[in-house]
Amino acid sequence: MTTFVLDQLMAAAQRLVNSATRVVCFSGAGLSAESGVPTFRDAQADGGALWVKFDPMMLASPRGFERDPEAVVEWYNWRRRAVAEARPNAAHRALAAARSIVNVTQNVDDLLERAGAVDVIHLHGSIAVDHCEHRCGCVEAIDLKNPLPLRPCPNCGPRGRMRPGVVWFGESLPDDAWMAAEYACRSSDVLLVVGTSAVVYPAAGLIGLARMSGARIIVINTQSSDASALADVELIGPAGEIMPGLLS
Ligand code: OAD
Repeated sequence: MTTFVLDQLMAAAQRLVNSATRVVCFSGAGLSAESGVPTFRDAQADGGALWVKFDPMMLASPRGFERDPEAVVEWYNWRRRAVAEARPNAAHRALAAARSIVNVTQNVDDLLERAGAVDVIHLHGSIAVDHCEHRCGCVEAIDLKNPLPLRPCPNCGPRGRMRPGVVWFGESLPDDAWMAAEYACRSSDVLLVVGTSAVVYPAAGLIGLARMSGARIIVINTQSSDASALADVELIGPAGEIMPGLLS
């Protein structure tokens, strides 16, 4: 694509953002890629995306935890240390600086918050907490630099173990996060879809919901994705390069 066409697309996206009253950003792993946090599915990822190297059913499902809980906790602890070392990138900072933007993210890292964003809706939970596998109500904050190994729940004892506070395959999304995200997307004028393959449901369904509710869709990704077909404007490139200009 020529520089002229790219400039025209950026100008069109800026016009949509600047004329909108309610802008929502729906983000995925690509938002944190330039911070060094690996993506899950990304043919262009250096060294391969996570779900190319690891089996999600072994590491991110209740059955995988049942089969080998230590391996699951160790894998999440490896990712926790990676997030602890990561710093917010220019895309996180641009979103945080745009105070009126509501952030709905599939990411389980805390890089938007560390950039200064408030009221981030985490659809898939957070790796900065553990909770009891039986959801007895016990939740513990985790120091990402020094995460705790597999251990029993302080309430349930040996009958229950603490597990990462993320949504696994086959599990429901947290009700409060889902309802807040649905409301935000339904009432948005513009939905920015940043760094997501848009293949994991129900989260990806928010794009269609926003569109059906009248929002214009701007997709930012390094390559085409399942969100491309819904885009009014698609900006192909790294979020860290595109977002500061788009939101300036
Ligand atoms: P994916 O890894 O599926 O998709 C990441 C997307 O980001 C790809 O489409 C890349 O092309 C794009 N991308 C990579 N680098 C980028 C950059 N610098 N700028 C812009 N785009 C970039 O990640 P998600 O869509 O977030 O679930 O995956 C959805 C869910 O699947 C995750 O939340 C996770 C996973 O299983 C849980 O953790 C529960």
